[in-house]
Amino acid sequence: MKNILLTSLIVLSFLVILEACQHKTEIVVPKTNPTDTTGNNPNPNPCDSNIVYFDKDILPILNSNCAMSGCHDAGTAAEGVVLNSYEKVMSTGKITPYNSNKSELYEVITETDPKKIMPPPPNAKLSAAQIALIAKWINQGAKKIDCNSSTCDSTNVTYTKQVSKMLNTYCVGCHNAASPSGNVLLDSYANAKQATLNGNVVGSVLGGTMPKGGNSLSACNKRILQLWAANACPQ
Ligand code: HEC
Repeated sequence: MKNILLTSLIVLSFLVILEACQHKTEIVVPKTNPTDTTGNNPNPNPCDSNIVYFDKDILPILNSNCAMSGCHDAGTAAEGVVLNSYEKVMSTGKITPYNSNKSELYEVITETDPKKIMPPPPNAKLSAAQIALIAKWINQGAKKIDCNSSTCDSTNVTYTKQVSKMLNTYCVGCHNAASPSGNVLLDSYANAKQATLNGNVVGSVLGGTMPKGGNSLSACNKRILQLWAANACPQ
């Protein structure tokens, strides 16, 4: 009996020590917090490719896949959940910093049950890369850290080189076949070109009405879109 007690005590203290030693990825929060207004600021806080940034990496995924009208925008707030800003995301209580496995937001995007998965069908599920980014962001502490991406590559603007990535990040979640908001499709070269040449894509971005409910695009992205349209949308 004494032996069993002693053994349990040893095992228990071992577990406590193990738990205390678990390594957390601690991120150094930059002191200054510049905003990139010109799109090509000389950069005091260059983006670190090992860090996942909320505004640059996470918010665009949420804006395009979760914070749509009818879902988790401020107007609809399905189940009380609004996902269009850092403060709103954290106040859902569905993020446990440093622990993606204990975060309900992570759980629902990795669900296999079609009744529980987010975004719900027929919306496409998040890509493995997007899911991995969200997990990494949570496991790095779910912080709000900004960085300036150093340069704005607005030379020889083409769909393949710059525009497709921008549209996929900021627009396609609300403008694809399953969710053609305002009858505008931006999910392929042909569709994006057609919408840009015949519709109000540039105007909506410059005027800040799109991305709907989200942050206005950076000056760099606005310039890229303008140049692309001015050159009749090269592929
Ligand atoms: C969160 C969802 C959402 C995102 C993200 C989004 N849109 Fe929209 N968009 C809408 C909805 C909904 C409408 C229909 C009109 C309305 O409700 O304002 C719309 C309408 C439009 C229209 C037609 C109306 C107009 O303003 O002329 C254009 C063009 C457009 N979006 C472009 C874009 C572009 C470009 C992006 C990315 C930079 C984008 N949208 C991102 C939801 C979204």
